[in-house]
Amino acid sequence: MSQALEIQFEAIYARAPTASATVPGRVNLIGEHIDYHGGTVLPITLDKTVTVVVAPNDAPSHRIRSEGYEDESVRVVNEPASGDWSDGVMGALAKAGELGWIRGGFDVLVSGNIPGGAGVSSSAALITAVLRAARAHGKAEMDQKTLALKAREVENDYIGVPCGIMDQMAVGLAGAGEALALDTVSLETEVITIPDGWRFVTVHSGVSRKLTDGRYEARFIECKDAATALEAEYLCRAELGDIAALPDPLKARARHVITEHQRTLAAIEALKRGNAEAFGGLMIESHASYAGDFAASTPEIDALTKDAVALGALGSRLTGGGFGGCTVSLVMADKVDGWLEALLARHPKAWLV
Ligand code: GLA
Repeated sequence: MSQALEIQFEAIYARAPTASATVPGRVNLIGEHIDYHGGTVLPITLDKTVTVVVAPNDAPSHRIRSEGYEDESVRVVNEPASGDWSDGVMGALAKAGELGWIRGGFDVLVSGNIPGGAGVSSSAALITAVLRAARAHGKAEMDQKTLALKAREVENDYIGVPCGIMDQMAVGLAGAGEALALDTVSLETEVITIPDGWRFVTVHSGVSRKLTDGRYEARFIECKDAATALEAEYLCRAELGDIAALPDPLKARARHVITEHQRTLAAIEALKRGNAEAFGGLMIESHASYAGDFAASTPEIDALTKDAVALGALGSRLTGGGFGGCTVSLVMADKVDGWLEALLARHPKAWLV
């Protein structure tokens, strides 16, 4: 249990927490918006984490706080999502109640350094951490894959974001310094060690967004419509030759999804071969497709990825759900310091995650 947070919990709630959990954020190296259409994706964990400590409070409400903030969200057990930051905690507690792991109200203290609204899975990490803490509290057993599916249900059904399974699997299963090649249909995973000398650097553009703002869902619906029109069970696996008859923008969205899946499979092979140039080239193509065909980038992010490459990165792209947030760039270890300094000098609003 995180001792410092446990002490704070006791200071606030006048008793010890019964359980805790710490979960990392993730950055997706390549394979965007394909995890809800049968694709294979390639996330790694970040060294940023969220920790939650919990205890039952014998009340009909949950009391939820974030370390360092005076404000407390007091919310009736099982009340619906409200758009508040505490929704992830509420949804996860409701799920834990459904599973029989907890009963009644809980006090929850949250602490972490994963930036929110940045495309690095702060939400999946928070939900997963609360579920794990509740599982520990209830002395229950559930494997990580099943828990990831439960965490996704919280996002889909409680928060209302129709996301795929990538984030919950990545934050729940990937180890430090390892990439997780995840088949989002079979949920089979392959762990791939990042070769010596490669660095994936995550830079925040300075522009945040919320996945609940409707733009993620709009793309989800377009892809679903494209799949229906093509009679494809999984859009990723449709034939590129078949999309010509689709109307725009469905044609462009489908082209992104199909080609992004092909790029991701090629990138996994490049990573295994240790071919950084090939991997970086695929990242550059991926960004062009995400910004063009999928129309999910921003001018700041386009400029950031372009300059990242001009200054020596082998590849750079928008990562996560899109419309703002972070870029991820592949840079050789011996170049990182100078590269980063030059990039941040050109982009004063950007910062290293
Ligand atoms: C968000 C979603 C994921 C995935 C990415 C885009 O992170 O939660 O399921 O769709 O966007 O690749």
